[in-house]
Amino acid sequence: MDFWSVIERRRSVRAFSKETEVSKDAVAQVLRAAILAPSAGNRQPWHFIVVRDPSLRKALAEAAYGQEFLAEAPVVIVVCAEPQRSAARYGKRGAELYCLQDTAAAIEHILLAATALGLGTCWVGAFDESRAAESLQLASHFRPVALIPIGKPVSEGPRETGRRPLEEVVEYRD
Ligand SMILES: Cc1cc2nc3c(=O)[nH]c(=O)nc-3n(C[C@H](O)[C@H](O)[C@H](O)COP(=O)(O)O)c2cc1C
Repeated sequence: MDFWSVIERRRSVRAFSKETEVSKDAVAQVLRAAILAPSAGNRQPWHFIVVRDPSLRKALAEAAYGQEFLAEAPVVIVVCAEPQRSAARYGKRGAELYCLQDTAAAIEHILLAATALGLGTCWVGAFDESRAAESLQLASHFRPVALIPIGKPVSEGPRETGRRPLEEVVEYRD
């Protein structure tokens, strides 16, 4: 799939086929794409947890206020930031901003790579961080930033989601 098709095709998927697995190879490709994202000072303040365990996926769905599709997807990648890695070079701005921007860039690479492989994803940011961290027994220097379910979409074709027009969101200073 060419780059523009991937961009156009990516849409949040919230229903996953129960029959189709996601191979280790596909997960590895997606994670490879993640670590190719840019990061401030190339600090790479990210950490990824690949969750296949059904009871853990269920716990994540509960931490995400009942977003059950997290339990239904065969794989959930938990993307964490490591604020101290960024803070070591950039202080407060690193801890509060760069590490989140860096992980966001990695998340978007994950979404696009999965789309290119014919898989569906959803960027889930609405969750109780403490509950998610507790379920995962996460080391305290990691902050969970997003939960990304990955699986074969139940329905083919992207669901249209509107966009504010360019005229509304762009201004030019020629
Ligand atoms: C930071 C962030 C947090 C999000 N959190 C959730 C979430 O908790 N649950 C969910 O279903 N979708 C979530 N989304 C997905 C958005 O709802 C979705 O991207 C948006 O509606 C546009 O639709 P599209 O992704 O299909 O283009 C989140 C997206 C972002 C970027």
